[in-house]
Amino acid sequence: VPLGQPFDPVAPGKGRELRAVPPLTAVSCSPALQENLDRKLFGQHLVSKVVVKAVKGFLNNENAKKPLTLSLHGWTGTGKNFVSKIIAESIYKKGLKSKYVHQFVATLHFPHAQDINIYKDQLQSWIRGNVSICPRSLFIFDEMDKMHAGLIDSIKPFLDYYELLDGVSYRKAIFIFLSNAGAEKITELALDFWRNGRAREDIELTDIQNALSVSVFNNKNSGFWHSTLIDKNLIDYFVPFLPLEYKHVKMCVRVEIKSRGYTVDEDILTRIADEMTYFPREERIYSDKGCKTVDAKLDYYYDF
Ligand SMILES: Nc1ncnc2c1ncn2[C@@H]1O[C@H](COP(=O)(O)OP(=O)(O)OP(=O)(O)O)[C@@H](O)[C@H]1O
Ligand SMILES: [Mg+2]
Repeated sequence: VPLGQPFDPVAPGKGRELRAVPPLTAVSCSPALQENLDRKLFGQHLVSKVVVKAVKGFLNNENAKKPLTLSLHGWTGTGKNFVSKIIAESIYKKGLKSKYVHQFVATLHFPHAQDINIYKDQLQSWIRGNVSICPRSLFIFDEMDKMHAGLIDSIKPFLDYYELLDGVSYRKAIFIFLSNAGAEKITELALDFWRNGRAREDIELTDIQNALSVSVFNNKNSGFWHSTLIDKNLIDYFVPFLPLEYKHVKMCVRVEIKSRGYTVDEDILTRIADEMTYFPREERIYSDKGCKTVDAKLDYYYDF
């Protein structure tokens, strides 16, 4: 696979040309994962907990029986892509730019429903080819909720408990799925805690997972992927992202100001956070766009 080349579903046979080579030595997780999540990720206590446990556990397990599969759920701008980047950086020196990391964006790579069969072939051979070159490959599927249902089912065999499939083992690979599915349920729950005067940090995984499974995964008409991945328990961890509050938005703005080398002007910081819109309309607790668009707003204030 040419370095830095994006996945190109229309170029036929690309992945098929790849041949199996002896597995590379295992890459282990750098301690930076926990540290980076603690330092950079705001307001997502559940995410840090699950991701560290899942990724570390998997990388340290010599005898994994299946690839690691994480499904990240939550409101827009709450850090799903951000976390997948941090995960990639904890495993590969070049992070997302590593040739062992493959990102697929549903609307970009698989836009046409009528081409689904081509995409299926291409996706399968892409994954097969790349895992045979590097067993410790990372595949990120963005916009899962916009992905054609049949397509994701085509990778199901790779996620299952097989020792080998056509001579290739997928047991060291990692699959991460991102979607907004279930975001309403997660928000509802967070709001519930808030209204009852309970701390956000007291929300537990079990609270959310039950809510999630009821709303999304048991509902075949939810517009989610409708696939057997869930029925067959092939997703190891559902990772819920909570909606971000005003104070988290401020933290994001601060980081962004600093990263540009500007001195932090508390006044501008507050103004930018105030400019974001918050919901529900009554209480105005959660940012509509999470921390998205924060950087665009900064351009306005600091671009004199
Ligand atoms: N919880 C967070 N902590 C710190 N920064 C965050 C957080 N959430 C979002 N950000 C900042 O906002 C940017 C946009 O977030 P990101 O792209 O990860 O959102 P997303 O959850 O993937 O949203 P969408 O569902 O719209 O794709 C990130 O690059 C990061 O800079
Ligand atoms: Mg995203």
